[in-house]
Amino acid sequence: MNGSGVKITGVGHYAPEKVITNADLEKILDTSDEWITTRTGMKRRHVAGIDEATSDLALVAARAALDDAGVDPHDIDCFIVATVTPDFPFPATACIVASKLGAENKAAFDIEIACSGFIYGLTVAASLVRSGVYKRILLIGAETLTKIVNRKDRATAILFGDGAGAVVLEASAQDSFLSSELGSDGSKPELLRVAAGGSRYALDPLRYDAGEQYIYMEGREVFKFAVTKMIDATERALEKARLTHADLDLLIPHQANKRIIDAAAKYLEMPSDKVLVNIHEYGNTSAASIPIALSEAVRSGRVKNGDVIVFVGFGGGLSWGAVTWKWAA
Ligand code: ACO
Repeated sequence: MNGSGVKITGVGHYAPEKVITNADLEKILDTSDEWITTRTGMKRRHVAGIDEATSDLALVAARAALDDAGVDPHDIDCFIVATVTPDFPFPATACIVASKLGAENKAAFDIEIACSGFIYGLTVAASLVRSGVYKRILLIGAETLTKIVNRKDRATAILFGDGAGAVVLEASAQDSFLSSELGSDGSKPELLRVAAGGSRYALDPLRYDAGEQYIYMEGREVFKFAVTKMIDATERALEKARLTHADLDLLIPHQANKRIIDAAAKYLEMPSDKVLVNIHEYGNTSAASIPIALSEAVRSGRVKNGDVIVFVGFGGGLSWGAVTWKWAA
């Protein structure tokens, strides 16, 4: 195995056509556009249809990224999907996506670490390429979170949307991967989880009636943790890359709450034009939010050759992570 550098050679994203606006939510919940906008920055979220599963969204984003990279699916060595809303508990959604792309007999697996999924996935995928295990990897963050949200719970129903973002990573003489900082704290899973349906609590009728098949979140607790960890992970990732805030051209944070992003950006002394925000359009799409934002930024020309980017995320686990990346065109 020969070590090499790694770079992203293609990006793509997809969000379902159906949109739910704050005005739509006002009609079905005790909430308001004003509350949602000021507390979260969200305006719209895209929602998968009843027949649309996570692999369907992933597939469209994957095709766009492969097309952007000019890479045939058969030339991908490994398919990774970061998701907490797989098509099935098993098999892995990545196997389904690889098969739908016509790439048989390739390595494929899912990463399940909630909203931190893309950051963990990028670290794993980049490491596999840099160590020479694989030459080309397709990494996708894809979610259909609206399928596991209780539509009657105003505390969570307003927050989540569906979508997918994909990147093609390839071995390269230049090395884009500068550092990674990952972390977790599993001591309080009850702060943010789907309680029933796993091996701890079966989804029996009592738990079903209690709504334990849906996302439960202690919003205020998660908020405090999120701001601290976004800052901490970004600083540690920059330090590992021997860089400072001043070297940073773009911060691409997980899109969970505009106030979380603003608080972290303020502490990190990042002006708003260097912080990517698209939460108004998508809401929180968990593992898909960062690759969707990256794909939009690259396609709109906002990302330039040589830019130093920090991708930073946090979520269920609790978990967090940041990756420092030097963009190579
Ligand atoms: N509309 C109107 N009022 C509401 C709504 C709503 N949709 N939701 C809650 N409220 C009310 C509450 O009942 C409460 O009322 P009270 O004061 O009478 O008790 C009041 O608004 C304030 O509630 P808080 O929960 O304190 O509101 P907060 O300002 O914390 O905002 C939010 C809530 C948006 C959820 C915020 O806490 C947050 O963003 N937390 C972090 C979410 C996150 O980042 N999740 C991470 C990833 S998800 C994953 O990993 C899958």
